[in-house]
Amino acid sequence: MRFDVLTLFPEIFSGYLTQSLLKLAIDRDLASVHLHNLRDYSKGKHKEVDDRPFGGGPGMLLKPEPTIDCVEAVQADPSAGGPGRLLMLTPQGRRLDQPYVEDLAQSPRLLLLCGRYEGFDQRITDLLQPEEVSIGDYVLNGGEVAAMTIIDAVVRLEPGVLGDETSSQEDTFSRAGRNLEYAQYTRPREYRGLAVPEVLLSGDHEAIARWREQNAAERTQQRRADLLPAASRSDQPAADTTN
Ligand code: ADE
Repeated sequence: MRFDVLTLFPEIFSGYLTQSLLKLAIDRDLASVHLHNLRDYSKGKHKEVDDRPFGGGPGMLLKPEPTIDCVEAVQADPSAGGPGRLLMLTPQGRRLDQPYVEDLAQSPRLLLLCGRYEGFDQRITDLLQPEEVSIGDYVLNGGEVAAMTIIDAVVRLEPGVLGDETSSQEDTFSRAGRNLEYAQYTRPREYRGLAVPEVLLSGDHEAIARWREQNAAERTQQRRADLLPAASRSDQPAADTTN
């Protein structure tokens, strides 16, 4: 899986790339991350990449020329094995969720275009027709953290990245099951008066599986009933009398 990140701040990624699961994936040749600085594609005397919006308003916009030149050069890289899927990180985009992550993980190459300032000149979107992606309904200072979020969520689905091949399928929000995960415990058996549920120590695998299923269902009902099919929500009123 190849990721190309197009950003004004490639340094933001350096710590992230050299730690933990992503480092392991890169070391094992299961993933590669290529950083491209949008500023390198500015032809201006001062390497400008942003400018004020026509019509006024706060902040600065990414200019079309360096941004589009950068995307086109990265897409055309002959060593990359195809243009890949172009994602633009923006709070205006489609909200990222696990099914979308699973769909992205099918692609051998993702290009992640990070904005800064107030956003992108609209012609960048019109000409490149990227998939606009948001990681949630809040505004970040730029797309970099969102790009890292996508890389993080996608790379763990790459076969061989997680130690246990089945564990990403059991994740909360995976297609296989929409329940949240059950509660887990490790040693010690008792801590500050709180004991590990007896059944988990019993060695009875069927009983443990039943307990976990029940625990996951209860948690989902309590915390995220919105994930459940309407019919199985316990909070569904018989008739809606609120309006
Ligand atoms: N850039 C700024 N805010 C963002 C968000 N919520 N998701 C993706 N990119 C962003």
